[in-house]
Amino acid sequence: MAKMTAPKVLARKGGEKLRMVTAYDFPAARIADRAGADIILVGDSLANVVLGHDNTLGVTVDEMVHHTAAVSAAQPSAMVVGDMPWLSFHMSLDDTVRNAGRFVREGGAEGVKLEGGRKRLAAIRAVLDAEIPVMGHLGLTPQSVNAMGGYRVQGKQAAAAYDLISDARALADAGVFALVLEGVPDLLAEIVTDEVSVPTIGIGAGTHCDGQVLVFHDVLGLGGGEYLPKFVRQYANLADEAVEALERFFADVQSGDFPGEAETYHMPEESAEILNTLTAVPTAGSDLLADEAMES
Ligand code: KIV
Repeated sequence: MAKMTAPKVLARKGGEKLRMVTAYDFPAARIADRAGADIILVGDSLANVVLGHDNTLGVTVDEMVHHTAAVSAAQPSAMVVGDMPWLSFHMSLDDTVRNAGRFVREGGAEGVKLEGGRKRLAAIRAVLDAEIPVMGHLGLTPQSVNAMGGYRVQGKQAAAAYDLISDARALADAGVFALVLEGVPDLLAEIVTDEVSVPTIGIGAGTHCDGQVLVFHDVLGLGGGEYLPKFVRQYANLADEAVEALERFFADVQSGDFPGEAETYHMPEESAEILNTLTAVPTAGSDLLADEAMES
């Protein structure tokens, strides 16, 4: 498959729906790529689903870049986008560009995602100026959990909806190559999708977006049965399958059925004979071992 790039994602506006999923390591990236992902997002949801945090606020640039590098090592055809964590683009523009650059230089990402609207425009412009493609993210932005007072659907009231449309226009005008819309009413997502010239990628934003994204562990049921948001559709229950497989492994260990012949190494017959005839283990350099070494 040909490599997906930011211009190719942009060109999909209004066309074939974009397929995006998160991944946080090498095997997951290979799975996502084999399944035909257009974009693999190394989301800061890493904090929740891999590191076990309660929210995304604690994950660091170091951690994000580390996992982005693992994803990039899979050399997927999908475009790899690294998610800039909270406070990595809020302090100064120098800091912002340096952090975004780490995703590219150390993590091998082909673009970064930044949460937020017009408030983050200067940061987004600075990253774009450094020739790094930027994906925007509006609506229920998890990095604003404290400001929002919880994980709530955004833009339900007309004033808030207008505000989000203005943010979307500003980001598209600034030059983002795509825009994630998370946790917004479907009508609002439809209006934004019609209004902006860049593809929208929905998560809990209804059916009218130019693409959809879900978290890898949610789609595959790897999370172990905890609460899933309404917008998630779980396509497998791999956590239960994994528990069942490990239970069978442990049972085979207990019964002696594992390892079997197929999983066992053997020594050459001559060596086995020598070992079997020995009454005491010879010391290194003994004649017996020297003879055997000569013969092999
Ligand atoms: O961090 C993440 O996983 C995300 C998406 C689900 C859009 O930001």
